[in-house]
Amino acid sequence: MSDVDQHNRLELGLRGMTAVVIGSGPGIGAATIELLVAAGCRVVAADLDLQIARKAAAGYGDSVVPAAVDVTNRESVRDLFAEVTSNEGAPSTVVDVVGIARPKSVADTTDEDWDVMQQLNLRQQFVVSQEAARVLARPGSYVAVASINGVVSSPMNAAYGAGKAGLVSLVRSLALELAPDDIRINAVAPGIVGTPRLNAFFESSGKRGAFEDAVPMGRLATPADIAGAIVWLASPLAAYVTGQVISVDGGATVKYPLALMA
Ligand SMILES: NC(=O)c1ccc[n+]([C@@H]2O[C@H](COP(=O)([O-])OP(=O)(O)OC[C@H]3O[C@@H](n4cnc5c(N)ncnc54)[C@H](O)[C@@H]3O)[C@@H](O)[C@H]2O)c1
Repeated sequence: MSDVDQHNRLELGLRGMTAVVIGSGPGIGAATIELLVAAGCRVVAADLDLQIARKAAAGYGDSVVPAAVDVTNRESVRDLFAEVTSNEGAPSTVVDVVGIARPKSVADTTDEDWDVMQQLNLRQQFVVSQEAARVLARPGSYVAVASINGVVSSPMNAAYGAGKAGLVSLVRSLALELAPDDIRINAVAPGIVGTPRLNAFFESSGKRGAFEDAVPMGRLATPADIAGAIVWLASPLAAYVTGQVISVDGGATVKYPLALMA
């Protein structure tokens, strides 16, 4: 390596660390795994569907270990962390990507919709973060994936937004409680992300342009855009950052819709 290369090389400080990514589907989870591996981490890719975890691990050799977990079941979460600590040692980072949206008006939202939204967007994060805090290395870092719907609001997303807003509050409280233990708790709040699932929706609905126009930067997020913020928060570069919710949304949440002088 030349001198120039050496000077231009940035180490994130994650080399040799173990990270656990829960929710390793082909969007934000897979992009996060890819970036953590690039930063030199060994990654445990966990998902409800072991096939999804195996797909996320494919091509990375020993660097990524697939695992099954159901975050709605505390025993299953405990088993995952017990397996990780016994096989890999204490993880320095846990990222919980799991979440689900069911866009519906309040009028159409059923009790079951409401309960599923709170379970998968909020309650499971309580369980996972609580169990993670028991096994995380010190210093350690937990990153939750929230949504700009937990920071600002839109029609058709009341149940989802309430779950994500609750998650934002959980992140802040937990950060305060765990700061003395050298564990940082943060969240990334993505805007609209061009994941395979949403891309399919945009193709079939023809609505991509309308969504892109609503974003000041004029495009949707890529999964890699979200992963960049997650991995930064996980790394020692963010060593003094805790209790924060970083919106990664191309400027969407800072935009007032009317410009007086335009
Ligand atoms: N896609 C977007 O535009 C967008 C925008 C804002 C926020 N988000 C948030 O980002 C996160 C990921 O979104 P995505 O679109 O990549 O979702 P995704 O559905 O592709 O990924 C979620 C993963 O969680 C897994 N999962 C579901 N239930 C589980 C359980 N009980 N236990 C363990 N794993 C389980 C799924 O199998 C899936 O692989 C979610 O929290 C979502 O709310 C997404």
